[in-house]
Amino acid sequence: MGKDIYLTGITTTGTPHIGNYVGAIRPCIEASKNSANKNYYFLADLHALVKSGVDPDRINRSTLEISAAWLALGLDTDNAVFYRQSDVPEIPELTWILSSMTAKGLMNRAHAYKAAVAANEEGGNKDPDKGIMMSLFSYPILMAADIIMFKANKVPVGRDQKQHVEMARDIAQRFNHHYGDLLVLPEPVISDDTAVLAGLDGRKMSKSYNNTIPLFAPEKKLRKLIMKIKTNSLEPGEPKDIADSTLYDMYKAFATADEVKEIEKKYAEGIAWGEMKQVLFEYINEHVKPARDEYDRLIADPRIVEAELQKGAKRAREVSAPYLAKIRHAIGIRKLG
Ligand code: TRP
Repeated sequence: MGKDIYLTGITTTGTPHIGNYVGAIRPCIEASKNSANKNYYFLADLHALVKSGVDPDRINRSTLEISAAWLALGLDTDNAVFYRQSDVPEIPELTWILSSMTAKGLMNRAHAYKAAVAANEEGGNKDPDKGIMMSLFSYPILMAADIIMFKANKVPVGRDQKQHVEMARDIAQRFNHHYGDLLVLPEPVISDDTAVLAGLDGRKMSKSYNNTIPLFAPEKKLRKLIMKIKTNSLEPGEPKDIADSTLYDMYKAFATADEVKEIEKKYAEGIAWGEMKQVLFEYINEHVKPARDEYDRLIADPRIVEAELQKGAKRAREVSAPYLAKIRHAIGIRKLG
């Protein structure tokens, strides 16, 4: 048995927030230090084109912020390969090749596309495809190329992306059926034990709900946001339930088991919400401070980040270029004679 190959992409459409950190960034950074596996992490900037419409500065800024965050938090870029999707031209080429192995009907069934059509239909639009770009429609094929390009067999993703990984598997299978066993069949890895944090309003923390706490918000802003987290109206002194408490969940995502026990006691004793917010703020602030300083340094000097991405791209292409050459050969795109 060879090493497992893990691969995951981060779409560059926003600023990393506490929910991203706890749910994805932290586990990936931990995994990056484990040399028993091969890990690929990349900034999916070509995917970002689908979501951010026409806003060049937003993609660029987000690429910087996400890369700087991962590096500041201690990603091991000698072990894991950390790169930007658009620096690997083999990926879009493979996307085109895989498009010829992908039934249109399969793409018709993709959740994201179906949701966009449903929204048009509910909005009473005559054209169900109104405003839908081809990039949204073929999004899963680009994602399949991301995965297949590096022979990843394990793809850690959120539930919403599971279908895409299954589609990648279908596409790879069809390719292999026609051209021989060249592609690795990936499987999604969904971890149910990583925390899903709620945001300011109690719904899942997500940039689409506009309820996030940026991981590296300056201290003042961090405090202000934490003070805004929704609670119930229980008074100081009234015992409080840890279930359904965003403050508790957030604290738990950062603190040690003993510290969590202490807080549980305080909840039972009726800690005031204002005090709990202060405790949470101080805890998170202390926890992120060293990384935040490093993050600020990197944001101020993007050349350091760019150099890391170039290093990653070089390593990535050492794998993708020869593999794509094999794939090209297999499908008959070859030199003559
Ligand atoms: N589509 C993923 C998301 O929105 C990001 C992504 C792009 C990805 N390519 C990938 C994830 C390949 C895993 C593997 O979250």
